[in-house]
Amino acid sequence: MYAIQTEQLTRVFGRFTAVDKVTLNVEKGSIYGFLGPNGSGKSTTIRMLCGLLAPSAGRGRVLGYDVAGESEQIKANIGYMSQKFSLYDDLTVLENLAFYAGLYGLTGEYQRRRVEEMLAMAGLTGRHDELTANLSGGWKQRLALGCAILHKPQILFLDEPTGGVDPKARRLFWEIIYGLAAAGTTIMVTTHFMDEAEHCDKIGFIFEGRLIADDTPGKLKESIPGILLELRADDPVLLLETLEQQENACLDVYLYGANLHVLVLPEQADAFEAWQPKVIRPSLEDVFVYYVKTRRKEMRP
Ligand SMILES: Nc1ncnc2c1ncn2[C@@H]1O[C@H](COP(=O)(O)OP(=O)(O)OP(=O)(O)O)[C@@H](O)[C@H]1O
Ligand SMILES: [Mg+2]
Repeated sequence: MYAIQTEQLTRVFGRFTAVDKVTLNVEKGSIYGFLGPNGSGKSTTIRMLCGLLAPSAGRGRVLGYDVAGESEQIKANIGYMSQKFSLYDDLTVLENLAFYAGLYGLTGEYQRRRVEEMLAMAGLTGRHDELTANLSGGWKQRLALGCAILHKPQILFLDEPTGGVDPKARRLFWEIIYGLAAAGTTIMVTTHFMDEAEHCDKIGFIFEGRLIADDTPGKLKESIPGILLELRADDPVLLLETLEQQENACLDVYLYGANLHVLVLPEQADAFEAWQPKVIRPSLEDVFVYYVKTRRKEMRP
């Protein structure tokens, strides 16, 4: 049995479809990365899976429980860290943990022990009397994580957990996440950071409410057709415009940082010798660009 399973899961708001027939499976103990631009439907999907928002159509199961009819069982068995950490700023670190421990029904010695463990995990041992408002981003983030996993949930939903924290805190956070996954927790995480997605077992790309690709990072990279070249040009924007106007020059061309990435068929590659092309392995960003463009072409009448 999969930890998370959806079939044509859909959510509309009025006449707007925020999540459009999403079908996906997440294996137990794996890390599933959910990637997509702003407004693509990531949080809406997560909220449905957490039993917080009713689907408009389709089905979803989390730990075997139906997201529409068994939301209470789901809520008791999952951890959820929302996009805006749901911490109380005017409570101390300890008070926040105690509040969530109470919410999950932890009592007595077990509560005390779990709170201690979460303080240690967050690196906040000895700082339990500090006001939450005074913690910097990384500490707040780890405290929010601690509050979400006090009850040892089997599944953890993280909605952009690393937004607004520095790279060092992000790395530290991911180390904790790997540890949880290694111990058997299933993790579904949304992120804007492609480097974070690289470390997921599987990735789903969501675009305009649709799941446009879903596989392991390695398989997604292999799925792009042709050869990817990196070109250095003095004026990449000018070269981009020139290439875009030439039909049959390449499969695709786009700016990538200060360089150009050109996707070509083997027989098209020779035409790019003048720009010292380097054959490169696609990054997840390249994969994302490819799937978004393919999807747009499909949508064109
Ligand atoms: N309660 C609501 N009522 C109306 N529209 C909504 C509601 N919640 C979300 N939407 C719309 O649905 C779309 C998807 O929103 P969602 O929050 O799921 O996107 P997201 O992928 O999480 O974006 P972000 O990366 O910015 O967090 C957006 O256009 C949003 O405005
Ligand atoms: Mg969101």
